[in-house]
Order: sequence, then C-alpha cells, then structure tokens
Amino acid sequence: MIIAVDGPAASGKGTIAKALARHFGLPHLDTGLLYRAVAATVRRLDLDPSREADAVAACDFDELTLADPSLRDDETGQLASIVSAHPLVRAALLQRQKRFAHQPGGAILDGRDIGTVIAPDADAKLFVKASPQVRARRRHAELTGRGSEASFDQVLADIRARDARDSARATAPLTQAADAAALDTSNLTIDASVARAIALVEARL
Ligand code: C5P
Repeated sequence: MIIAVDGPAASGKGTIAKALARHFGLPHLDTGLLYRAVAATVRRLDLDPSREADAVAACDFDELTLADPSLRDDETGQLASIVSAHPLVRAALLQRQKRFAHQPGGAILDGRDIGTVIAPDADAKLFVKASPQVRARRRHAELTGRGSEASFDQVLADIRARDARDSARATAPLTQAADAAALDTSNLTIDASVARAIALVEARL
C-alpha cells in the first residue's frame, strides 16, 4: 500500500502523515527534508541558491543527512523552496523517493508532488490544505514557542511567498492530483484531522 500526502507549508500534512504511518504500520518519508538538506548544503557553502549547477555540484545526493533539527527552521524552508524549483535538483532526488515509495510492504510519503510525480500509482492520495491565515497562525505559535520574535505578518508573508514559489514553478509544482481527496484542516483539531485522514484513506483501499 502506498499513501501519498501532499499540501502546502504548515497545512498539517507532516503531522497527518506521521499519524497515518503509525496507524497503518508503514515506513514514512518526509520528502521536504531532502530539499531542506540540499538547502542547508547551499547555505553552509554560502552558494547562490538560484544557481542550479552550483547546487547540484555541491551536493552528494545519496548521502544527505536528514536528522539535523536545524533543517526544520523557516529560513531553510524558504531556501528549500528556491533550490527545489531546479529541475536537476528534483531529478537527482527522484529515484530515492520512488524507491522508498515502492518498497515491499508499502510506504507513506509527504511532500508537494508525491501523488503527481513520485507515486502517481499510489493507492490513496490526500491533499491537505488550510487557509494561509490559519497556517500562519500555527507556524507563528510554533515559532513563538521556540523563543522566536517573528511577527505574525512576517510569518504570513513568508507562507504566501513559499506557496507562490511552490505552485508557480515549471517542474512538479504543488497541485492537487486529480484523484486525490482534499482535506481542509482550517477548522479541525489535530485529532479530528487525523481521524478524517484515516477515514479518507480507508475509503480508498
Ligand atoms: O514540506 P516542507 O515545508 O519541509 O518543504 C520544504 C520545501 O521543499 C517546500 O517549500 C518545497 O519547495 C520543497 N518540496 C518540494 N517537493 C516535495 C517536498 C518539498 O518541492 N516533495
């Protein structure tokens, strides 16, 4: 069984994907971490993220480490959305994701293009969304909790900028697959979102 979970930043897709992985006993890959690891390399080497060839030359794509907590910060997320628009970066990460999706016993992956590019053959596809205001509120609360002083308006602007970049790029843009079930978490608690996700997946198996 392959489950594809896609959606924009702070929609709740990561939390939902982890809960689904536990519920169905499947290995899970947060594919955003791959692009974040590329971004972290670009940042460490102080490269220009808009230069595709430099980013590709600098990365050992088979050895990217995904465990570093600093990969999850917002700056890395913004940089990830710049490097992830490069077709050669996406191509270099494609096989690893396809192999993970098609391992014996199944898998769950979350990202932007799982249902459209990585596993168009997935057994169940979810497209998780929420309004930009709700997503910014969640992200702002998370950042404040970690001691950051980012303003709500700045967080909202960052979310809108990332949405625009992820949706407008030519290669594998963020878009709902035709056969994906939409799950709007704007007015749902985490528990209610997870329960709804489980029901949507079960209805598709
Ligand atoms: O999901 P997350 O916020 O960690 O993703 C970081 C960035 O990586 C996204 O804004 C997007 O540009 C990129 N990404 C992608 N394709 C994926 C997963 C993430 O382009 N499958």
